[in-house]
Amino acid sequence: MSDATGDLPLDPAAEDLEWYRVCSVGEIEEEEPFFNTVGGRSLMAVRQGARIAVFDDRCPHLGASMIGATVEDGQVECPLHGACFDASSGSVLDGPTTQDLVCHPMRVSDSAQVEVGLSRPDRTP
Ligand code: FES
Repeated sequence: MSDATGDLPLDPAAEDLEWYRVCSVGEIEEEEPFFNTVGGRSLMAVRQGARIAVFDDRCPHLGASMIGATVEDGQVECPLHGACFDASSGSVLDGPTTQDLVCHPMRVSDSAQVEVGLSRPDRTP
């Protein structure tokens, strides 16, 4: 397994994460994010060459889905009001919000499957 984002360290509590398959690397177009719901969360996977990042499918501006977003010059643009986010980190770059996309730990398996690490559900009774 490898951290395809390169500069995003895995969560220090990675052993507390549950890993889910999101898609294969080849399913993510470079200009268009890939969307899937796994582990009860709606997610958006973005690829720039070998760099992949997985975010919540939720624009922090009004909480809308990012379906229809485009990826260009290292930025993801929300289709609703044009907020732009760094395609690797989710940091807000421009637009009507000051909040970042929620970015999740991810890894790529030896068989080129993109996996996301989500917090385990609270198991306290
Ligand atoms: S909902 Fe994304 S910019 Fe407004």
